[in-house]
Amino acid sequence: MYEQVSHSTLNDILLRLAPEIESKDLQHFYIRLGANFYAIYTLFHQLYGHRPDFKEQLYILTKTLALSYIERTDTLKALDLKREKAHDWFLHQHWVGYAVYCKEFAENLTGLKQRLSYLQELGINMLHIMPILECPPDKNDGGYAVKNFRKIDPEVGTLEDLDALVTNMQTREMLLVLDVVVNHTSDQHAWAIAAKEGDAYYQDYFHVFDDRKIPDVYEETMPEIFPETAPGNFTWNADMGKWVMTVFNHYQWDLNYKNPAVFIEMVDIILFWANKGADIVRLDAVAFLWKKMGSQSQNEREAHLILQLMKDCCQVTAPGALFIAEAIVAPVEVTKYFGEDAINAKECEIAYNATLMALLWDAVATKNAKLLNHGIKGIPDKLERATWLNYIRCHDDIGLGFDDKDIVLAGYEPKAHRKFILDYFTGVHPDSNARGIPFGHNLKNGDARIAGSLASLAGLEAALEINDEAAIHASIRVIVLLHSVIMSFGGIPLIYYGDAIGMLNDASYLTHDAKKEDARWIHRPTMHWANALERKVIGTVQYQIFTTLKKMIAIRKEIDAFADHNNRELLDVDNPHVFAYSRFSLVDTKARILVLCNFDTQPQQVVITHLQKKGFLMQASVKDAFSSETILLDQPHIEIPALGFCWLNT
Ligand code: GLC
Repeated sequence: MYEQVSHSTLNDILLRLAPEIESKDLQHFYIRLGANFYAIYTLFHQLYGHRPDFKEQLYILTKTLALSYIERTDTLKALDLKREKAHDWFLHQHWVGYAVYCKEFAENLTGLKQRLSYLQELGINMLHIMPILECPPDKNDGGYAVKNFRKIDPEVGTLEDLDALVTNMQTREMLLVLDVVVNHTSDQHAWAIAAKEGDAYYQDYFHVFDDRKIPDVYEETMPEIFPETAPGNFTWNADMGKWVMTVFNHYQWDLNYKNPAVFIEMVDIILFWANKGADIVRLDAVAFLWKKMGSQSQNEREAHLILQLMKDCCQVTAPGALFIAEAIVAPVEVTKYFGEDAINAKECEIAYNATLMALLWDAVATKNAKLLNHGIKGIPDKLERATWLNYIRCHDDIGLGFDDKDIVLAGYEPKAHRKFILDYFTGVHPDSNARGIPFGHNLKNGDARIAGSLASLAGLEAALEINDEAAIHASIRVIVLLHSVIMSFGGIPLIYYGDAIGMLNDASYLTHDAKKEDARWIHRPTMHWANALERKVIGTVQYQIFTTLKKMIAIRKEIDAFADHNNRELLDVDNPHVFAYSRFSLVDTKARILVLCNFDTQPQQVVITHLQKKGFLMQASVKDAFSSETILLDQPHIEIPALGFCWLNT
């Protein structure tokens, strides 16, 4: 887009910049800057155009992009060009992710490098290492309260250790995902310390107030994120003699994006980690970036403008790097984080599919797919060049973030249904063998979420305790069934560490002062490598889960129809226990997979003529791509075993 005002501004900036960046090979930088500048100018103007220093700030931003480009290695620049050519490379079914806490999984970065073979054995080629930056030893929110955005926690390693890991991962063609906690810092961050010492420049990096007047107005409409441990959204700081906005924990200070210096700092940090080899940057808590009185201060339009601007900036310097949006918000809101359009107003290429995650847990508890079917229909279509991160468990809690109207459509009363799900997974319900614990109980509105490991929530812990073979078997089937959905649904499956060997809840956090109040630590265990070895012993729980997931991953990678190109159709099979959808290939339009998942503990049948009316199962027999079994279609029904699934090649 050529537009005179922005173009002449760019000319001024480049004239001023030229002597500062001496002659370097900047051809690709200039081409990309030219292509993105109109958007950058417009967005920056929308956010900061009212400020007298607007042009100066735009200059600083452009210089930041140029300096970061100069820092980018030739290897990464070559990767940028390659990915520009194959621009939808990340939609391929080849990618399978895995999320770890470095310390808990492998002690440190060097240890993690030694564990890459374990991940490769499973079929993993995308590794999300949760925050590894320097944090205060106690008040750190599992790494999400960052003290220094450019320094790795010394216990985890050094930048050189990360380099060695990245080089090793590149050899294995494994992608690296790193976090940038864009919404807040620790109260021990240098900016917060300067603010506490009274430095007005740094106080403007945060939302600080002399008295409760403005905070009280905000509080009227802002929800509480950690109501039990950090009620309210503001914290009194005695050093400053001011209130500071702390939406998450009291020690996490929200950054003030109304200040362009904050925006520029954070872009610089994103580019720093992209230059260190992060193929994908996970942007934490993006829904919270813009605060507005009288609103929930989530999903505000300006939060989207900030993300669009971050994307445009990243496209200039590190176009090969992708963004993941961590926005655990309502289904209608979450797709907005992909952006409005794949070319203009792009935001994040990937987003967590928290709706699918919560709906899958609902199906486990209810043993049917009623709400799952309604809820999925409620997720708006996403952009073509965008994909989901589909997961079952992660380091956070499970929020029951589905819509009340879908709960009603599924035939339940919302309040009672939410209570049932909570009771089910916390083991209070008489029919439940789940061992979760409540998290984030809000006494004011009764809301609560759930913590617990996949295996414990699926009943494995309870079953092992009483050595009940049938129950052990059933819980393994639940674990496998849930994975079969994230592998086939469309998007990148993200496996949580420990889940492939059925790791249980770990209550040891209760003995740590810094962790005991945060129930999420129950599912952030130290990896049991001795147990992991059991994956090689036929018949063990670890063997059963690991080998099945390994096989599932390998088969997923072979099926073109599992690439994510909006090539999924939900199917109504007239059986409430069955979740059904078809996936079709864009490469070979005749290649289709019919996915049938039975959430009931009894076998369920699907009427074949019902599916034939929709054009499926017209042949004499059909092969299950997962089990390799052939099913003859000369019968009225297909039977799906209890807690079973099939991937029919139809
Ligand atoms: C994200 C993280 C979560 C953290 C929060 C605040 O939601 O996933 O673990 O507590 O941000 O940083």
